[in-house]
Amino acid sequence: MNSIIITGGAGFIGSHLVRRMVKKYPETKIINLDALTYAGNLENLRDIENESNYTFEKVDICDFSAVISAFKKHNPDGIIHLAAESHVDRSISNPIAFVNTNVVGTVNLLNAARELWKDNMDGKRFHHVSTDEVYGSLGDTGFFEETTAYDPRSPYSASKASSDHFVNAYFHTFKVPVIMTNCSNNYGPYQFPEKLIPLMINNIIQKKALPVYGKGLNIRDWLYVEDHAAAIDLVFHKGKLGESYNIGGKNEWKNIDLVRLLCQQMDEKLGRTKGESEELITFVTDRAGHDLRYAIDSSKIEKELNWFPSLQFEDGLSKTIDWYLENKEWLQRVTSGEYAGYYDEMYKNR
Ligand code: NAD
Ligand code: DAU
Repeated sequence: MNSIIITGGAGFIGSHLVRRMVKKYPETKIINLDALTYAGNLENLRDIENESNYTFEKVDICDFSAVISAFKKHNPDGIIHLAAESHVDRSISNPIAFVNTNVVGTVNLLNAARELWKDNMDGKRFHHVSTDEVYGSLGDTGFFEETTAYDPRSPYSASKASSDHFVNAYFHTFKVPVIMTNCSNNYGPYQFPEKLIPLMINNIIQKKALPVYGKGLNIRDWLYVEDHAAAIDLVFHKGKLGESYNIGGKNEWKNIDLVRLLCQQMDEKLGRTKGESEELITFVTDRAGHDLRYAIDSSKIEKELNWFPSLQFEDGLSKTIDWYLENKEWLQRVTSGEYAGYYDEMYKNR
């Protein structure tokens, strides 16, 4: 492809994908289109920002005229759409922001692609990056398959499910060449410390309470972020148009067990007494509508595209902790300013 627009490229997963694509496809122009909300940070891309095939455009996807002018300026053959409001707890405090960015923003991008590609859709691709949360909550057994009925239960997952439906509707109604992936929980460097793993790492460093929701029995399936970026790259280039692919780590952890493992690994790395950080664990009021378990059946992407997760969780977690310990300035910068207010509001009365 000549040029690819990646939305949300200054965020956690987006920055890993932008870095991968800029390095792997030097002949392709990679345009990072991002509004730089609290979750977007160009510092995440400092190492590649001067590459000749990389460009940044500050655009809010809710603003159609800004989107269409960026599309016309760069004339992309491909769009990979990650920009979103992504944190479930924030969606409980402020659902409408999720409707605006995740639903309206996605439809704006679909309309812009339709307009740009109206004379010839051949060789074009619109890849929508979605989540396993659209499938709802599992009991003790079972896995989400691509054919599992949607059953979103938080404002975040409802907004992602809605965007998925629009993506599919544009494929059938307007023949926009879409493809979709639904992935499980990601972890790794550059994740904003509102999400479980970096929040706990930051609190352990600072010897602050570790707020585990409810009894810590909810289960998530964790995947290293670079494995997700590799899967998106593969599906974007080789997947079948109009289809969706589930991506997961085959790596289910109860929250409390994960937090304990994190405490153990960090005590060792920080030279603390064994068990010291575990004493910081504090059980707090549960998240409203907290989904019990997510687990992905990723056999479709394995069989059709030969994708598999590359890292063992213990190794990925250790690598992730090392990154945060080596990048304490990054952590300090992103937790200064409005983060303290957010943390207070979210955790003070729990
Ligand atoms: P993130 O919150 O770290 O980053 C989101 C990015 O989108 C930020 O750079 C932000 O500035 C940008 N953005 C937000 N609103 C925007 C707007 N209106 N216009 C333009 N840019 C805007 O998110 P993430 O965790 O990297 O997730 C990326 C995508 O992957 C999301 O679509 C999310 O639903 C999906 N996803 C995330 C996970 C996960 O575990 N984090 C798992 C599966 C799917
Ligand atoms: O499954 C994919 C989804 O994973 C993505 O679509 C979302 O964008 C991403 O945020 C993530 O959603 P979760 O809600 O699963 O992630 P989070 O890190 O917020 O929480 C993981 C689990 O840890 C969840 O069961 C809630 C719990 N938790 C979270 C926080 C922030 C705690 O117990 N304490 C906390 O302080």
